[in-house]
Amino acid sequence: MSDLLDGRLLMVGAGAMGGAMLARWLDIGLVPEQVTVVSPSGRAMPPGVAVVPAIPAEPFDTVLLALKPQQLPQLAATPLAVARPALLLSILAGVREEALAAACPAAAIVRAMPNLPVRLGKGVVALTARTADDAARTAAGRLMAPLGLVEWVDEGSFDLVTALAGSGPAFLYRFIDALAAAAADLGLSADQAGRLALATVGGAAALAAAADATPGDLANQVASKGGSTRAGLDVLDDEQALRTLLRATLAAAERRNGELAAINSQ
Ligand SMILES: NC(=O)c1ccc[n+]([C@@H]2O[C@H](COP(=O)([O-])OP(=O)(O)OC[C@H]3O[C@@H](n4cnc5c(N)ncnc54)[C@H](OP(=O)(O)O)[C@@H]3O)[C@@H](O)[C@H]2O)c1
Repeated sequence: MSDLLDGRLLMVGAGAMGGAMLARWLDIGLVPEQVTVVSPSGRAMPPGVAVVPAIPAEPFDTVLLALKPQQLPQLAATPLAVARPALLLSILAGVREEALAAACPAAAIVRAMPNLPVRLGKGVVALTARTADDAARTAAGRLMAPLGLVEWVDEGSFDLVTALAGSGPAFLYRFIDALAAAAADLGLSADQAGRLALATVGGAAALAAAADATPGDLANQVASKGGSTRAGLDVLDDEQALRTLLRATLAAAERRNGELAAINSQ
């Protein structure tokens, strides 16, 4: 048994996100025999991980819900309704604790919001729990720690954190595409612009993560007064153009998380 997890883990779904989390846990030593994955389509899983087509009527210490929020009603009248695991974890965006408790009553419930870089141990995992005790919170934190930066937030901030960190990689991918497309518009070949934009964003993010200086200070270090970088930054900074765009982006995603929560609690 690994230090990550006490007992057996049931993963209800292991697609893009659940699969990324599982792959990282296995990389850093989770014992595959501790894990059972529910995959109605019989998705291929790493050796040693049990795959079943439906929720098994067996006890599990930890249950991780990693199916789509709209698939949650499919769990009604399955053995989960009476399973009562010690810890229920959910990565479902916009599904509140009450709805989770109705689908799978558990001794403790912790909501987690990961993002895709968890596959490399470089993700962000926001956690929130309203009623879970310290032992359950510690167990959840221990399991999530190897996935990247783990932060506890209030439930009231969870929709916004979901927008920032859960959806954030998609926003960054769009930014990389836009940077490349803009360079292509101005004359670079699309292939070369794509390669340069991706390497620039990857390198800049790695440097910012390792630096003592803030990203704002780093931007100023690149931009000398009267120089070409400053001319570009002046466009992004004009009437806070980039900040305004990103505020609207996060607000739209946060609002949608709230709408989905309302739908999922009906
Ligand atoms: N993708 C992201 O970047 C991201 C980020 C943060 C949070 N999330 C959250 O992660 C969750 C999963 O998203 P995803 O992108 O990983 O979805 P996905 O790739 O579609 O995976 C869904 C998984 O759920 C399984 N499933 C479907 N119906 C089921 C049922 N009735 N019983 C048991 N398992 C069932 C699927 O089975 P099969 O193996 O048969 O297909 C699949 O393994 C969502 O709730 C989302 O809010 C995702």
